Amino acid sequence: MPSRYRSKVYVITGASDGIGAELALQLAERGHRLVLAARDEARLQAVAGQCQRHGAMAIAVRADVTVEDDCRRLIDRALEAFGRIDVLVNNAGVSMHATFDEIGDWSTYERLWRVNCLGTVNCTRFAWPYLKAAPGKRGGQIVGVSSLAGRTGVPGRTTYCASKFAQTGFLEALRIEAAEHGITVTVVYPGVVATEIRRHGLDGKGETAGVSGLDETGAMPVDQCARQIVRAIEDRRRELVMTAKGRFGLWLKRFAPGWVDNLARRALAKNQAKDEAQ
Ligand SMILES: NC(=O)c1ccc[n+]([C@@H]2O[C@H](COP(=O)([O-])OP(=O)(O)OC[C@H]3O[C@@H](n4cnc5c(N)ncnc54)[C@H](OP(=O)(O)O)[C@@H]3O)[C@@H](O)[C@H]2O)c1
Repeated sequence: MPSRYRSKVYVITGASDGIGAELALQLAERGHRLVLAARDEARLQAVAGQCQRHGAMAIAVRADVTVEDDCRRLIDRALEAFGRIDVLVNNAGVSMHATFDEIGDWSTYERLWRVNCLGTVNCTRFAWPYLKAAPGKRGGQIVGVSSLAGRTGVPGRTTYCASKFAQTGFLEALRIEAAEHGITVTVVYPGVVATEIRRHGLDGKGETAGVSGLDETGAMPVDQCARQIVRAIEDRRRELVMTAKGRFGLWLKRFAPGWVDNLARRALAKNQAKDEAQ
């Protein structure tokens, strides 16, 4: 389906699975050119192949966003292939579920921060000169896929919240500086989305243990999540808080923070009871 917008060059991190992969497919359908990044090259090539079957130009670049040289090479490859970058989507992320008491491996704080925050800084840093030079009436775009846990505290998720708040803080401050270069910054706050993120996530020992800890009933389908992100990018929105429940919760927290904290505490206790029963 041809886009009502001109074809742009998108760099998407974390494009081998979940939200990033679905976003790539939807952007491919709209005729955009894609540079897809993640560590699992085989999965990434498979997503690039699907995008090409939709008629889009797409390349796969193996990159770990915590490694500076990988991020530099990612941006270089985008320029070699397409000569410019219009939109950088910082989507790569890793999750973790453990209460503070359950944490045994304290390096998990740094590990999550390196992916969820530093990864965004690294890619933005190398793409920045080209986003400033993005052709067209309007400038380049930076998108950050944060989380509701990057906007409000969630019990059992101090590690994830710390890394996502850091990513949010970076993007919120950058937005103000970016405006003078014509670059817009869109921060996306999904709620629970039906992807494998909880299976890929870490536990308190720092191991990928297929942790859940979250009630996934009513999780947003990934195609719906990606569609909302595409629209937010096209509309150059400042932010997208994804669910009505999320928007209501953030609003309510301004007036009754203790009450909202209590609700979150009760939700964690319910999930823990469910886990123990399994
Ligand atoms: N799903 C949800 O409920 C939810 C809710 C709120 C926010 N989010 C956020 O949405 C984003 C996407 O999550 P998802 O649900 O799609 O998760 P996912 O299915 O687990 O996908 C995560 C993606 O990030 C990539 N990734 C992880 N570590 C990386 C690294 N060091 N360098 C490069 N790529 C890396 C993974 O690819 P490789 O393993 O191949 O590197 C994968 O492509 C994340 O930032 C997440 O925090 C998700």
